[in-house]
Amino acid sequence: MNRALIIGGTGTVGRQVVVQLSNSGAQFRVMARNPEGARLPRQVEVVRGDLTHPETLDACLDDVDTVFLVWVAPPATVAPVLERIAKRARRIIFLSAPLKTPHPLFQQPNPGRDLGTKIESLIEGSGLQWTFLRPGMFAANATIWWGPQIRAGSIVRWPYLEVSAAPIDPRDIADVAVRAMTEDSHVGAEYVMTGPESLSHRQQISIIGKALGRKLQIEEISPPEAQRELLTIMPGPVIKMLMDAWAAASGQPAVVTSTVEQIKGAPARTFLDWAGDHAADFQA
Ligand SMILES: NC(=O)c1ccc[n+]([C@@H]2O[C@H](COP(=O)([O-])OP(=O)(O)OC[C@H]3O[C@@H](n4cnc5c(N)ncnc54)[C@H](OP(=O)(O)O)[C@@H]3O)[C@@H](O)[C@H]2O)c1
Repeated sequence: MNRALIIGGTGTVGRQVVVQLSNSGAQFRVMARNPEGARLPRQVEVVRGDLTHPETLDACLDDVDTVFLVWVAPPATVAPVLERIAKRARRIIFLSAPLKTPHPLFQQPNPGRDLGTKIESLIEGSGLQWTFLRPGMFAANATIWWGPQIRAGSIVRWPYLEVSAAPIDPRDIADVAVRAMTEDSHVGAEYVMTGPESLSHRQQISIIGKALGRKLQIEEISPPEAQRELLTIMPGPVIKMLMDAWAAASGQPAVVTSTVEQIKGAPARTFLDWAGDHAADFQA
């Protein structure tokens, strides 16, 4: 890799990719819609660009051979953006999801899935060297899901308390991403990545309590109650996507893979590791 472009470098995973590339001394720049608000280290080059305005990618792609792509923008400009990337770069690492894993948690129809499938198919036909990262649930979702209740008190109300996932630390996703950017052996790979253990929602909330040294009271709420109460933290379509996935995954153990350990050569971080390092996010 000579020079990389990070698209989504201000987000949960992209920010960790930026940290790791900075530590390695690699040449890269970050594309951001608002460079002034990016809150990245001063030495990081941040260039204005927006996936919904494909022409803005041209300056960002100057001299770039490798792209790390996160796509949370609307789908309309996927094709012209990927055409521009394919004209300038040689390799793309796309942050996708376990779209092909036969587990009900990952197989419910939703617009995000359709978008991911479309992006992957365009990348496959683009002539770019590609790697698809397919992480399961992010550990960092816990900050959005339970942060407000834990900061406000000791009661956590949540649906589907016995449904399990194997939350993955975004730093582990970034570890694999950076290897895929810098090593040739990952071209054409689709990495289904998870954290090291299957944990129910109830267990995840208890682990956060343990990391904080607090006893949290966990109360199960019904799906209709959750549809109403979760609107304070997530948009309706995201709640629907999650509720459908959790309903379908009830009673099933989570998918757990050893991909992170195999690629990093070190164990994947545990949810307790993640919670301990993010305890401040749960403190009032
Ligand atoms: N959460 C999970 O459990 C999970 C699991 C598997 C896969 N995923 C996938 O992971 C992806 C999300 O990753 P993340 O959590 O790291 O994202 P994130 O924290 O939501 O960050 C999104 C990034 O995209 C940038 N962005 C948004 N709109 C943009 C636009 N129009 N042009 C350019 N940049 C734009 C944002 O930058 P600014 O806002 O600063 O401009 C930000 O850097 C999604 O595709 C999701 O499907 C998530």
